[in-house]
Amino acid sequence: MDYSTKISERMWNQPDKGELEAERELTFIDDIVQKAHIQRELLSNIDGIETVFDGGAGSGRFSILLAKQGLNVTHFDISQPMIDKAKELAQKEGVEDRITFVKGALEDLSAFKDRSFDLVMSFDSPISYTYPNQNKTIKELVRIADKRIMISVSSRLGALPYLSNPIQKNQFILDKDSKDEWVRWCLKSKDQMIESFSLNKESLIRTYETGLMCDVEESKKAYDRGEVPWSISYHFMPDELEEILSGYGVKNISMAGPGAFARTIPNEILVKIMNDEEQRKDFLDFCYMYDSNPYVCGMGKDNLFAKGEIK
Ligand SMILES: C[S@@+](CC[C@H](N)C(=O)[O-])C[C@H]1O[C@@H](n2cnc3c(N)ncnc32)[C@H](O)[C@@H]1O
Repeated sequence: MDYSTKISERMWNQPDKGELEAERELTFIDDIVQKAHIQRELLSNIDGIETVFDGGAGSGRFSILLAKQGLNVTHFDISQPMIDKAKELAQKEGVEDRITFVKGALEDLSAFKDRSFDLVMSFDSPISYTYPNQNKTIKELVRIADKRIMISVSSRLGALPYLSNPIQKNQFILDKDSKDEWVRWCLKSKDQMIESFSLNKESLIRTYETGLMCDVEESKKAYDRGEVPWSISYHFMPDELEEILSGYGVKNISMAGPGAFARTIPNEILVKIMNDEEQRKDFLDFCYMYDSNPYVCGMGKDNLFAKGEIK
Protein backbone atom coordinates (compact mmCIF):
# COMPACT_ATOMS: atom_id res chain seq x y z
CA MET A 1 0.00 0.00 0.00
CA ASP A 2 1.32 3.50 -0.89
CA TYR A 3 2.09 5.89 1.96
CA SER A 4 -0.58 8.32 0.71
CA THR A 5 -3.24 5.60 1.04
CA LYS A 6 -2.06 4.60 4.53
CA ILE A 7 -1.87 8.25 5.66
CA SER A 8 -5.34 9.02 4.30
CA GLU A 9 -6.78 5.95 5.95
CA ARG A 10 -5.33 6.85 9.34
CA MET A 11 -6.39 10.48 9.10
CA TRP A 12 -9.94 9.87 7.90
CA ASN A 13 -10.38 7.03 10.37
CA GLN A 14 -10.14 9.45 13.33
CA PRO A 15 -13.37 8.73 15.22
CA ASP A 16 -14.78 12.29 15.07
CA LYS A 17 -14.19 12.80 11.32
CA GLY A 18 -17.68 11.81 10.16
CA GLU A 19 -19.35 14.10 12.68
CA LEU A 20 -17.08 17.06 11.81
CA GLU A 21 -17.52 16.70 8.03
CA ALA A 22 -21.30 16.48 8.42
CA GLU A 23 -21.31 19.86 10.18
CA ARG A 24 -19.08 21.85 7.81
CA GLU A 25 -21.96 23.84 6.34
CA LEU A 26 -23.15 24.97 9.78
CA THR A 27 -19.68 26.27 10.47
CA PHE A 28 -17.91 27.70 7.44
CA ILE A 29 -19.26 29.92 4.62
CA ASP A 30 -16.76 28.70 2.00
CA ASP A 31 -18.10 25.17 2.51
CA ILE A 32 -21.68 26.42 2.06
CA VAL A 33 -20.73 28.07 -1.25
CA GLN A 34 -18.81 25.07 -2.54
CA LYS A 35 -21.42 22.47 -1.63
CA ALA A 36 -24.24 24.66 -3.03
CA HIS A 37 -22.36 24.88 -6.35
CA ILE A 38 -21.90 21.11 -6.59
CA GLN A 39 -25.50 20.45 -5.54
CA ARG A 40 -26.77 22.73 -8.30
CA GLU A 41 -24.57 21.02 -10.88
CA LEU A 42 -25.76 17.59 -9.76
CA LEU A 43 -29.45 18.41 -9.70
CA SER A 44 -29.31 19.90 -13.20
CA ASN A 45 -27.37 16.96 -14.66
CA ILE A 46 -29.27 13.84 -13.59
CA ASP A 47 -31.53 13.46 -16.61
CA GLY A 48 -31.13 9.89 -17.84
CA ILE A 49 -29.03 8.92 -14.79
CA GLU A 50 -30.08 5.90 -12.72
CA THR A 51 -26.86 4.63 -11.17
CA VAL A 52 -24.15 6.65 -9.45
CA PHE A 53 -20.66 5.97 -8.02
CA ASP A 54 -19.54 8.47 -5.35
CA GLY A 55 -15.79 8.07 -4.71
CA GLY A 56 -14.67 9.42 -1.32
CA ALA A 57 -18.32 10.05 -0.48
CA GLY A 58 -17.64 11.06 3.13
CA SER A 59 -20.63 11.60 5.38
CA GLY A 60 -22.96 11.39 2.37
CA ARG A 61 -23.53 15.03 1.48
CA PHE A 62 -24.03 14.14 -2.20
CA SER A 63 -24.71 10.38 -2.15
CA ILE A 64 -27.77 11.00 0.08
CA LEU A 65 -28.86 13.97 -2.06
CA LEU A 66 -28.97 11.77 -5.17
CA ALA A 67 -30.55 8.82 -3.37
CA LYS A 68 -33.33 11.24 -2.37
CA GLN A 69 -33.80 11.95 -6.08
CA GLY A 70 -34.53 8.22 -6.57
CA LEU A 71 -31.10 7.22 -7.92
CA ASN A 72 -29.16 4.09 -6.88
CA VAL A 73 -25.86 5.17 -5.38
CA THR A 74 -22.68 3.30 -4.53
CA HIS A 75 -21.13 5.21 -1.62
CA PHE A 76 -17.40 4.39 -1.66
CA ASP A 77 -14.97 5.62 1.02
CA ILE A 78 -11.70 4.67 2.69
CA SER A 79 -12.96 5.52 6.20
CA GLN A 80 -15.33 3.47 8.35
CA PRO A 81 -16.29 6.43 10.63
CA MET A 82 -17.34 8.39 7.53
CA ILE A 83 -19.36 5.45 6.23
CA ASP A 84 -21.00 4.97 9.65
CA LYS A 85 -22.00 8.64 9.78
CA ALA A 86 -23.36 8.47 6.20
CA LYS A 87 -25.40 5.35 7.08
CA GLU A 88 -26.89 7.13 10.09
CA LEU A 89 -27.83 10.18 7.98
CA ALA A 90 -29.19 8.02 5.12
CA GLN A 91 -31.43 6.21 7.62
CA LYS A 92 -32.71 9.52 8.94
CA GLU A 93 -33.59 10.53 5.38
CA GLY A 94 -35.17 7.12 4.72
CA VAL A 95 -32.93 6.36 1.71
CA GLU A 96 -30.54 3.68 3.05
CA ASP A 97 -32.14 1.13 0.68
CA ARG A 98 -30.97 3.14 -2.31
CA ILE A 99 -27.34 3.30 -1.17
CA THR A 100 -24.72 0.54 -1.28
CA PHE A 101 -21.91 1.35 1.15
CA VAL A 102 -18.46 0.09 0.13
CA LYS A 103 -15.26 0.56 2.11
CA GLY A 104 -12.26 0.89 -0.18
CA ALA A 105 -9.50 3.09 -1.58
CA LEU A 106 -9.84 4.92 -4.90
CA GLU A 107 -6.41 3.57 -5.78
CA ASP A 108 -8.06 0.20 -6.50
CA LEU A 109 -11.31 0.22 -8.45
CA SER A 110 -10.68 -3.18 -10.06
CA ALA A 111 -13.85 -4.58 -8.45
CA PHE A 112 -15.94 -2.44 -10.82
CA LYS A 113 -16.47 -3.32 -14.48
CA ASP A 114 -16.07 -0.83 -17.35
CA ARG A 115 -19.04 1.56 -17.70
CA SER A 116 -20.73 0.25 -14.52
CA PHE A 117 -22.33 3.58 -13.49
CA ASP A 118 -24.26 6.23 -15.42
CA LEU A 119 -22.66 8.97 -13.34
CA VAL A 120 -19.29 8.82 -11.59
CA MET A 121 -18.53 11.60 -9.11
CA SER A 122 -15.88 12.41 -6.51
CA PHE A 123 -15.93 15.70 -4.61
CA ASP A 124 -13.76 17.73 -2.28
CA SER A 125 -10.38 16.19 -3.02
CA PRO A 126 -10.40 12.39 -2.56
CA ILE A 127 -8.68 12.15 -5.98
CA SER A 128 -5.95 14.51 -4.80
CA TYR A 129 -5.30 12.28 -1.79
CA THR A 130 -4.25 9.39 -4.06
CA TYR A 131 -0.92 11.12 -4.94
CA PRO A 132 1.22 9.94 -6.76
CA ASN A 133 -1.56 7.90 -8.42
CA GLN A 134 -3.97 10.78 -9.10
CA ASN A 135 -3.90 10.44 -12.93
CA LYS A 136 -4.45 6.69 -12.76
CA THR A 137 -7.34 7.28 -10.33
CA ILE A 138 -8.98 9.68 -12.81
CA LYS A 139 -8.43 7.14 -15.61
CA GLU A 140 -10.14 4.46 -13.52
CA LEU A 141 -13.05 6.75 -12.62
CA VAL A 142 -13.55 7.49 -16.33
CA ARG A 143 -13.37 3.76 -17.10
CA ILE A 144 -16.25 2.88 -14.77
CA ALA A 145 -18.43 5.81 -16.01
CA ASP A 146 -20.99 5.27 -18.74
CA LYS A 147 -22.50 8.72 -19.35
CA ARG A 148 -21.07 11.49 -17.22
CA ILE A 149 -18.25 12.32 -14.80
CA MET A 150 -18.14 15.13 -12.23
CA ILE A 151 -15.19 15.71 -9.91
CA SER A 152 -13.60 18.32 -7.72
CA VAL A 153 -9.92 18.16 -6.82
CA SER A 154 -7.49 20.31 -4.84
CA SER A 155 -6.68 23.46 -6.79
CA ARG A 156 -3.11 24.74 -6.97
CA LEU A 157 -3.97 28.37 -7.74
CA GLY A 158 -6.79 28.27 -5.19
CA ALA A 159 -4.76 26.77 -2.37
CA LEU A 160 -1.55 28.79 -2.84
CA PRO A 161 -2.95 31.94 -1.18
CA TYR A 162 -3.35 29.87 2.03
CA LEU A 163 0.44 29.69 2.17
CA SER A 164 0.65 33.47 2.45
CA ASN A 165 -2.50 33.84 4.55
CA PRO A 166 -2.59 31.42 7.49
CA ILE A 167 -5.76 33.12 8.82
CA GLN A 168 -7.72 32.72 5.59
CA LYS A 169 -10.29 30.34 7.15
CA ASN A 170 -11.26 33.10 9.65
CA GLN A 171 -12.82 35.00 6.72
CA PHE A 172 -15.43 32.24 6.39
CA ILE A 173 -16.48 31.62 10.01
CA LEU A 174 -20.26 31.81 10.09
CA ASP A 175 -20.84 31.87 13.83
CA LYS A 176 -18.07 33.13 16.10
CA ASP A 177 -19.83 31.57 19.11
CA SER A 178 -19.85 28.12 17.52
CA LYS A 179 -18.48 25.34 19.75
CA ASP A 180 -16.83 23.72 16.71
CA GLU A 181 -13.21 23.02 17.62
CA TRP A 182 -11.83 24.34 14.32
CA VAL A 183 -13.72 27.63 14.76
CA ARG A 184 -12.44 27.91 18.33
CA TRP A 185 -8.88 27.20 17.13
CA CYS A 186 -9.06 29.76 14.26
CA LEU A 187 -10.26 32.49 16.62
CA LYS A 188 -7.88 31.64 19.44
CA SER A 189 -4.75 31.38 17.30
CA LYS A 190 -5.40 34.31 14.96
CA ASP A 191 -3.13 36.86 16.67
CA GLN A 192 -0.38 34.34 17.21
CA MET A 193 -0.58 33.25 13.53
CA ILE A 194 -0.15 36.86 12.41
CA GLU A 195 2.66 37.43 14.86
CA SER A 196 4.64 34.35 13.84
CA PHE A 197 3.97 34.73 10.10
CA SER A 198 6.76 35.40 7.67
CA LEU A 199 6.47 35.05 3.91
CA ASN A 200 8.31 32.02 2.53
CA LYS A 201 8.94 32.60 -1.16
CA GLU A 202 10.71 29.25 -1.67
CA SER A 203 7.75 27.36 -0.28
CA LEU A 204 5.31 29.31 -2.49
CA ILE A 205 7.39 28.60 -5.59
CA ARG A 206 7.85 24.93 -4.66
CA THR A 207 4.09 24.47 -4.36
CA TYR A 208 3.48 26.46 -7.54
CA GLU A 209 5.88 24.18 -9.42
CA THR A 210 5.16 20.79 -7.84
CA GLY A 211 1.51 20.96 -6.74
CA LEU A 212 2.53 19.64 -3.30
CA MET A 213 2.05 21.70 -0.15
CA CYS A 214 3.58 19.33 2.35
CA ASP A 215 7.02 17.78 2.49
CA VAL A 216 6.17 14.22 1.40
CA GLU A 217 9.19 12.64 3.12
CA GLU A 218 8.30 14.41 6.40
CA SER A 219 4.70 13.14 6.17
CA LYS A 220 5.97 9.58 5.68
CA LYS A 221 8.28 9.88 8.71
CA ALA A 222 5.45 11.29 10.83
CA TYR A 223 3.27 8.33 9.79
CA ASP A 224 6.03 5.89 10.78
CA ARG A 225 6.27 7.59 14.20
CA GLY A 226 2.57 6.80 14.70
CA GLU A 227 1.38 10.39 14.17
CA VAL A 228 -1.62 11.50 12.12
CA PRO A 229 -0.29 13.78 9.35
CA TRP A 230 -2.72 15.48 6.94
CA SER A 231 -3.30 13.44 3.75
CA ILE A 232 -0.64 14.04 1.10
CA SER A 233 -2.57 16.07 -1.45
CA TYR A 234 -1.76 16.84 -5.09
CA HIS A 235 -3.00 20.25 -6.27
CA PHE A 236 -3.98 20.50 -9.93
CA MET A 237 -3.75 23.38 -12.38
CA PRO A 238 -6.99 23.92 -14.38
CA ASP A 239 -5.46 23.26 -17.81
CA GLU A 240 -3.69 20.18 -16.44
CA LEU A 241 -6.95 18.66 -15.17
CA GLU A 242 -8.73 19.44 -18.43
CA GLU A 243 -5.95 17.78 -20.45
CA ILE A 244 -5.98 14.66 -18.26
CA LEU A 245 -9.74 14.27 -18.64
CA SER A 246 -9.73 14.85 -22.39
CA GLY A 247 -6.73 12.50 -22.73
CA TYR A 248 -8.92 9.74 -21.26
CA GLY A 249 -11.65 10.51 -23.79
CA VAL A 250 -13.97 12.78 -21.76
CA LYS A 251 -15.87 15.22 -24.02
CA ASN A 252 -17.65 18.57 -23.48
CA ILE A 253 -15.56 19.35 -20.42
CA SER A 254 -16.46 22.42 -18.38
CA MET A 255 -14.66 23.71 -15.34
CA ALA A 256 -15.48 25.93 -12.36
CA GLY A 257 -13.92 27.33 -9.19
CA PRO A 258 -16.60 27.26 -6.48
CA GLY A 259 -15.74 29.94 -3.90
CA ALA A 260 -13.84 32.34 -6.18
CA PHE A 261 -16.38 35.19 -5.75
CA ALA A 262 -16.80 34.67 -1.99
CA ARG A 263 -13.03 35.07 -1.56
CA THR A 264 -13.32 38.75 -2.47
CA ILE A 265 -15.72 39.58 0.41
CA PRO A 266 -14.74 40.18 4.06
CA ASN A 267 -16.18 38.13 6.91
CA GLU A 268 -18.48 40.84 8.32
CA ILE A 269 -20.28 41.22 4.97
CA LEU A 270 -20.40 37.47 4.27
CA VAL A 271 -22.00 36.83 7.68
CA LYS A 272 -24.64 39.53 7.01
CA ILE A 273 -25.47 37.97 3.65
CA MET A 274 -25.70 34.45 5.07
CA ASN A 275 -28.01 35.51 7.89
CA ASP A 276 -30.57 37.04 5.51
CA GLU A 277 -32.50 34.32 3.70
CA GLU A 278 -33.21 36.29 0.54
CA GLN A 279 -29.68 37.74 0.21
CA ARG A 280 -28.20 34.33 0.89
CA LYS A 281 -30.18 32.80 -1.98
CA ASP A 282 -29.29 35.66 -4.36
CA PHE A 283 -25.64 35.45 -3.31
CA LEU A 284 -25.42 31.69 -3.93
CA ASP A 285 -27.12 32.17 -7.33
CA PHE A 286 -24.57 34.77 -8.31
CA CYS A 287 -21.62 32.81 -6.89
CA TYR A 288 -22.63 29.92 -9.14
CA MET A 289 -22.63 32.20 -12.19
CA TYR A 290 -19.32 33.92 -11.39
CA ASP A 291 -17.51 30.78 -10.21
CA SER A 292 -18.51 28.95 -13.42
CA ASN A 293 -16.58 31.47 -15.53
CA PRO A 294 -13.48 29.67 -16.86
CA TYR A 295 -11.31 32.74 -16.15
CA VAL A 296 -11.73 32.29 -12.35
CA CYS A 297 -11.94 28.52 -12.28
CA GLY A 298 -8.56 27.94 -10.61
CA MET A 299 -9.36 30.39 -7.82
CA GLY A 300 -12.14 28.54 -6.03
CA LYS A 301 -12.14 27.87 -2.29
CA ASP A 302 -9.49 25.20 -2.53
CA ASN A 303 -11.16 23.04 -5.14
CA LEU A 304 -11.31 22.89 -8.89
CA PHE A 305 -14.52 21.46 -10.35
CA ALA A 306 -14.82 19.64 -13.70
CA LYS A 307 -17.65 17.86 -15.49
CA GLY A 308 -17.75 16.08 -18.81
CA GLU A 309 -19.51 13.49 -20.94
CA ILE A 310 -18.46 9.93 -21.74
CA LYS A 311 -19.30 9.16 -25.37
C1 LIG B 1 -13.34 16.19 2.38
S1 LIG B 1 -14.18 14.68 2.42
C2 LIG B 1 -15.33 14.87 1.09
C3 LIG B 1 -16.60 14.10 1.28
C4 LIG B 1 -17.66 14.30 0.19
N1 LIG B 1 -17.18 13.86 -1.10
C5 LIG B 1 -18.14 15.74 0.10
O1 LIG B 1 -17.83 16.41 -0.90
O2 LIG B 1 -18.83 16.20 1.03
C6 LIG B 1 -12.98 13.56 1.70
C7 LIG B 1 -13.39 12.10 1.78
O3 LIG B 1 -12.50 11.32 0.98
C8 LIG B 1 -12.22 10.10 1.65
N2 LIG B 1 -10.93 9.61 1.12
C9 LIG B 1 -9.70 10.13 1.34
N3 LIG B 1 -8.78 9.43 0.67
C10 LIG B 1 -9.44 8.43 0.02
C11 LIG B 1 -9.02 7.37 -0.84
N4 LIG B 1 -7.74 7.20 -1.16
N5 LIG B 1 -9.98 6.53 -1.32
C12 LIG B 1 -11.29 6.68 -0.98
N6 LIG B 1 -11.72 7.67 -0.17
C13 LIG B 1 -10.81 8.54 0.32
C14 LIG B 1 -12.19 10.48 3.12
O4 LIG B 1 -12.39 9.37 3.97
C15 LIG B 1 -13.33 11.50 3.18
O5 LIG B 1 -14.54 10.88 3.49
